[in-house]
Amino acid sequence: MSKSAKDLLDGNKKWVEETNLLKPGFFNELAQNQSPEFLWIGCSDSRVPASDITNTLPGAIFVQRNIANMVVHTDANLLSVVNYAVKILKVKHIIVCGHYGCGGVAAAMSNQNFGFLDNWLMHIKDVYRLHEEELDDIENDDQRFDRYVELNIIEQVHNLSKVSFIQEEWHEGEFPYIHGWVYSLQNGKIKDLNVTVNNSHELDDIYRYKQKKK
Ligand code: CO
Repeated sequence: MSKSAKDLLDGNKKWVEETNLLKPGFFNELAQNQSPEFLWIGCSDSRVPASDITNTLPGAIFVQRNIANMVVHTDANLLSVVNYAVKILKVKHIIVCGHYGCGGVAAAMSNQNFGFLDNWLMHIKDVYRLHEEELDDIENDDQRFDRYVELNIIEQVHNLSKVSFIQEEWHEGEFPYIHGWVYSLQNGKIKDLNVTVNNSHELDDIYRYKQKKK
């Protein structure tokens, strides 16, 4: 049976009641301020909600989600979120979390025309071109799809490391660490792709910005 918007409001009432019962003072405390240590860049897919799958409460994770967890350097929305997270909230970790079975990646892998969406999917297609040799060598379609999802996450980690104001933070200290994770819709588990970078990361020369002397 399809749900109405009222069902969500009713759900909210229930959640408030339960939370007040289980954690008295929770809302009062959270209302003071937020100091999340994590920024999450994930896919908009309804099946991959950051807090739920990491078993964290409101207040723990600053979140940005879009189709296929992309870091696009002309995306003012994403860059503003990252800037605020890094410069003001001083998050210690940025997590790019994609997921196997990602519809955005599947669409990018196909030759179907998706109209307006193609402009966004183009950024994902670019990742295929960068890793064409490796991906074309994988004969099994499912395996190629899975690897494409992983490579897309890894590229977004690199895209973050190219951002000038992240490099500014790295000039000051070791944080933020940028992680690449992949979530399985099949079993709910997150796998660390072990591509974490921080200020010890060797960037390609062309992406490195001059820093002010300390
Ligand atoms: Co997705």
